[in-house]
Amino acid sequence: MNLFDIDPGLIEALRAADSVAVLTGAGISAESKIPTFREAMTGLWAKYDPTELATPQAFARDPKLVWDWYQWRRDLVADAEPNPGHRALAQMEKLFDEFLLITQNVDSLHQRAGSTKLVELHGNIARTKCSQDGRVVASWPETDQTPPPCPHCGALLRPDVVWFGESLPGHALTGAMKAASNCDVFFSVGTSAVVEPAASLIYYAMNNRAVTVEVNPNPTAQANMVTYALAGPSGEVLPQLLAALEAAR
Ligand code: OAD
Repeated sequence: MNLFDIDPGLIEALRAADSVAVLTGAGISAESKIPTFREAMTGLWAKYDPTELATPQAFARDPKLVWDWYQWRRDLVADAEPNPGHRALAQMEKLFDEFLLITQNVDSLHQRAGSTKLVELHGNIARTKCSQDGRVVASWPETDQTPPPCPHCGALLRPDVVWFGESLPGHALTGAMKAASNCDVFFSVGTSAVVEPAASLIYYAMNNRAVTVEVNPNPTAQANMVTYALAGPSGEVLPQLLAALEAAR
């Protein structure tokens, strides 16, 4: 049964497309039970605002709190499985000459679903780095200290993710801007589209006269400027879109 009307114009645009870019945010992992950033957390972490924990200021003020929060998220991610939305995007990369998945997520669920053509704009929660010089650290001696000290210099270790106010990895951002600027179709999936510079990638696509598509059950401020706004959960919309595209090829 079709829950969403996929406009034939969108299928036509995808059939004609050589190059597709897809931006994803926390919403694509919501159906894998990873809480998004802008919804209230439950349980132990209910009284904290995630957007205030993911900051250098929070880490400077209370490194143990921030480390413990990321440890909780790491455990959630380790127990999670990719959902049909992740899997549909892993299939989609095979259908186009050029394809780039640009994710703001740090949870590796796209990779676990089979995506290979992707850039991570905000790092990865599975990696740890030195808070002083940014060197990635694979392991450290067992310790009672939280966060553990860097085995090279003794500074505190931190997750290798981008916090508010920090720069994005240059190569990832350059790749994302290039893909958005050159694509024929641009998707914005499961993101509130408020955190820069990711939120502005769609304008690069629009400058290239790309067809733009939002997939989000709660239409964002960008919904009224995209070519197609698909107001449903990505775990349902994307597999349906993929099926319609495969049927039309
Ligand atoms: P947000 O938490 O801001 O937004 C999640 C979006 O997903 C919302 O617009 C929801 O409506 C939507 N959503 C919820 N369930 C969905 C579903 N089943 N299918 C599709 N969409 C769904 O997350 P991001 O936009 O990713 O950055 O946030 C951007 C960045 O802000 C994050 O990478 C993180 C955060 O603070 C840093 O940590 C630097």
